[in-house]
Amino acid sequence: MRAFLFANPAAHSRSPAMHNAAFRHAGLDAHYEARQVLPEALADAVAGLRQADVLGANLSLPHKEAALPLMDALTPAARAIGAVNTVIHRDGVLTGDNTDAPGFLEALRTAGDDAHGTALVLGAGGAARAAVWALRSQGREVLVLNRTYDKAIALTRDLGGVAVPPAGPVGWERVALLVNASSAGLDAPHESPLPDLPRLAPEALVYDMVYKPAETRLMRDARAAGYRAENGLGMLAQQARLAFQAWTARDVPITVFLDALARPVRPEGTE
Ligand SMILES: NC(=O)c1ccc[n+]([C@@H]2O[C@H](COP(=O)([O-])OP(=O)(O)OC[C@H]3O[C@@H](n4cnc5c(N)ncnc54)[C@H](OP(=O)(O)O)[C@@H]3O)[C@@H](O)[C@H]2O)c1
Repeated sequence: MRAFLFANPAAHSRSPAMHNAAFRHAGLDAHYEARQVLPEALADAVAGLRQADVLGANLSLPHKEAALPLMDALTPAARAIGAVNTVIHRDGVLTGDNTDAPGFLEALRTAGDDAHGTALVLGAGGAARAAVWALRSQGREVLVLNRTYDKAIALTRDLGGVAVPPAGPVGWERVALLVNASSAGLDAPHESPLPDLPRLAPEALVYDMVYKPAETRLMRDARAAGYRAENGLGMLAQQARLAFQAWTARDVPITVFLDALARPVRPEGTE
C-alpha cells in the first residue's frame, strides 16, 4: 500500500519519517513518499490517488485550499475550515479531511490546557483557521489578532470569534491560552509575533505552532514571564497520527511519531 505527501516544496518534510515509522510499528507493508507537486499538477496528482493500492495523501502548502473542489466528499472540519490536509481513499472515493484541527486540540490537551478560558489566536491564515474552528468547538471565547486586520475580520465572519484591531485594547489579562498561528518566528530565532509580551492570565499556556527553532523567542519570553510554553511539534505529530488512523484504522502511539521527529534529518533531506 502507498500514501503520499503532495507539497511544493516537499523535500524538507518530516511526514515520511513519521508515517514510515508508524507503518513499521503497525507491521504494515506500506510506504509513504513526499512528492513535489506544482499547483498546475495538483488535479492529476489527486486523481492518481484513486488507484487501488493507495491509502490516501497529506496535502501541505500550497495545496490545502486548492484541493477542496477536487474531493468527492468533505468532512465537516474540512468544509468549515476551508482546507484539506488529509485525503482518505476508499473504493475510488476521495474524502477530504482536516486533522490539523483535532491534532491541535490533542496537542493542547497534552500540554496541559484545560479546554476552558479565553483563547487568543495570532494569525489569520490556514493554521489560524484550523485553530479558531477547533477552539470554538470547545465553546471557548476566541479572540483573533492578525497583522492584517481585514483578514482577521474575514476569518471571524466565517468561523466565529472576535477580531481584535492591532492597535486596539485586547484585555490580555484574561487570555488563558495564547496561540501563535502566524509565521512570525519561523526559522527566525529572534523574531516574535509579540515583541513585548503582555501580561496574560496567571498560569497561561502559550502554544507556538512554529517548531523551527524548537524554542522560539515567543516561548522564551513566555517562560521568562512565568507562563507555560510549548512548540508545534506535538500538533505536527498528532495531525499525522490522526491521518494514519483514518487511512489504516490503526492507532499507533504518539511516541512513534514524536520519536521519528526527534531523529536528525538525513543529509539528503528526504527522510
Ligand atoms: N505545528 C503544526 O503542525 C503546524 C501546522 C500548520 C501550520 N503551522 C505553522 O503555522 C504558521 C502559519 O501557517 P499557515 O499555513 O497559516 O500560513 P499562512 O496561511 O501563510 O498565514 C500566515 C499568517 O502569518 C502572518 N504573518 C506572517 N509573517 C508575519 C510576521 N512577521 N508578523 C506577524 N504576522 C505574520 C500572516 O499575516 P498577514 O495576514 O498580515 O499576511 C498570516 O496571518 C507557519 O509557521 C506554519 O509552519 C504549524
